[in-house]
Amino acid sequence: MHPHLESVLWTDDQISRRISDLAAQISADFLACSPPPVFIGVATGAFLFLADLVRKIDLPITVDLIRAESYGSGTVSNEAPTISFGLKVDIKDRHVILVEDIVDTGHTLSRVSEHLKSKGASSVSVCTLLDKPTRRKVNLQLVGDEKYYRGFECPDYFVVGYGLDFAELYRNLPYIGVLKSEHYE
Ligand code: IMP
Ligand code: MG
Repeated sequence: MHPHLESVLWTDDQISRRISDLAAQISADFLACSPPPVFIGVATGAFLFLADLVRKIDLPITVDLIRAESYGSGTVSNEAPTISFGLKVDIKDRHVILVEDIVDTGHTLSRVSEHLKSKGASSVSVCTLLDKPTRRKVNLQLVGDEKYYRGFECPDYFVVGYGLDFAELYRNLPYIGVLKSEHYE
């Protein structure tokens, strides 16, 4: 375990097994979707999750990235995240699966989801690896067949690893753990 961590919450094996379950569920749910869905990862945090998830999806999907800036270098969420780079793929009339590392207050998810709908997506489902429901400020409204998938419910700790950072560090850890407070206070 990295010396800056207090504990490991999910090992790389546990993450990998959970992603296999999510991918099987999504592949089954979107089997009849035509054209197949577009997976859009929220950079940078979702880069590993997106890569591992799409490799287990058994459909001829499209993949793209979007960037939402929410934190700067602190641990306090920004209420008005900005979209700082846009999409390459045309998502008009496409079903989108938005891939996130973690849903915390929900501001980022709502902002990105609105943006994707403004670009003409016919639906925006969500697949987040972690979910901290106790910190939610904004609840995403799903409509029609839109789905919400989550890997693990995360307790209210600041976590790093497997894509998640503090001040752009720790993203490359293969597991997810709790950062010791002395390293961000
Ligand atoms: P939200 O807008 O408050 O839901 O925050 C979402 C974004 O904040 C995520 O996409 C992460 O990049 C970041 N974030 C939230 N909680 C954590 C955490 O515990 N560790 C690292 N990043 C986090
Ligand atoms: Mg993120």
